[in-house]
Amino acid sequence: MALPWALAVLSLLPLLDAQSPVCANLTARPITNATLDRISGKWFYIASSFRDPVYKKAAEEIQTAFFYFAPNKTESVIEVREYQTIKDKCTYNFTYLSIQWENGTFSRHELGRDNFGHLLFLKDPKTFILDFYPEDEQKRGMSFYTDKPEATQEQLEEFYEALTCVGIAKSEVMYTDWKKDQCEPLEKQHEEERKKEEERKKEEERKKEEERKKEEEREKEKES
Ligand SMILES: *[C@@H]1O[C@H](CO)[C@@H](O)[C@H](O)[C@H]1NC(C)=O
Ligand SMILES: *[C@@H]1O[C@H](CO)[C@@H](O)[C@H](O)[C@H]1NC(C)=O
Ligand SMILES: *[C@@H]1O[C@H](CO)[C@@H](O)[C@H](O)[C@H]1NC(C)=O
Ligand SMILES: *[C@@H]1O[C@H](CO)[C@@H](O)[C@H](O)[C@H]1NC(C)=O
Ligand SMILES: *[C@@H]1O[C@H](CO)[C@@H](O)[C@H](O)[C@H]1NC(C)=O
Repeated sequence: MALPWALAVLSLLPLLDAQSPVCANLTARPITNATLDRISGKWFYIASSFRDPVYKKAAEEIQTAFFYFAPNKTESVIEVREYQTIKDKCTYNFTYLSIQWENGTFSRHELGRDNFGHLLFLKDPKTFILDFYPEDEQKRGMSFYTDKPEATQEQLEEFYEALTCVGIAKSEVMYTDWKKDQCEPLEKQHEEERKKEEERKKEEERKKEEERKKEEEREKEKES
């Protein structure tokens, strides 16, 4: 009799978890401008768990990843500048995510298919989750992001709780390792290039303004 009892308890677990406030939060809400403001800027990919073999394989290769989200609200896209360390090398990618406002999802065409991530928030505003295949237990997966290269224990606990809600064990989680990052020099270089570009534009503006003033003065002289 011990076995059926154990099974009954196990099958109750997800139900009990579903009552918790964390689990209740794990359904995507429509995306709004405020949501996009909340997630714009720099984020670090910390950990994930995927049952889908294609995602799992891709995630296994990533040693570190960080990216900048720049939402374009009028175009319903997010510009992504992404820095990933794979096989001890930095790869940089500029790409776009499409926003499905009502569905609360972002999508990206990659790995030969359209991939939909449902945006979820936990208590800590400095984190978010992307939830993949919420309707398919065999493929389900979640990835976890924070605003610092390493997550705090509290942040990780929140992520584990979320995974528990959907029946994924902590032992299935894969982590990035910030010590292996190779992308910081490239990011610095990009920052410097952007600064130079801004300075160049300012200088151009200044020169134009000067020309305009000179022109005005010439006009005045003519008039008098
Ligand atoms: C969202 O932001 C865009 C661009 O700033 C604006 O055009 C649009 O009206 C905003 N939508 C809402 C619902 O505020
Ligand atoms: C959004 O995209 C449009 C069209 O490409 C562009 O004109 C606009 O400047 C962009 N807005 C932002 C905030 O990048
Ligand atoms: C939103 O989700 C529904 C149901 O999964 C789907 O039929 C629809 O195509 C989705 N809309 C967008 C814009 O992705
Ligand atoms: C860059 O992103 C595009 C679109 O998502 C993808 O097809 C391509 O494989 C990516 N390249 C790298 C180096 O990650
Ligand atoms: C639920 O999500 C909201 C934001 O969407 C957040 O403010 C709140 O703290 C979350 N609650 C829990 C228990 O995760």
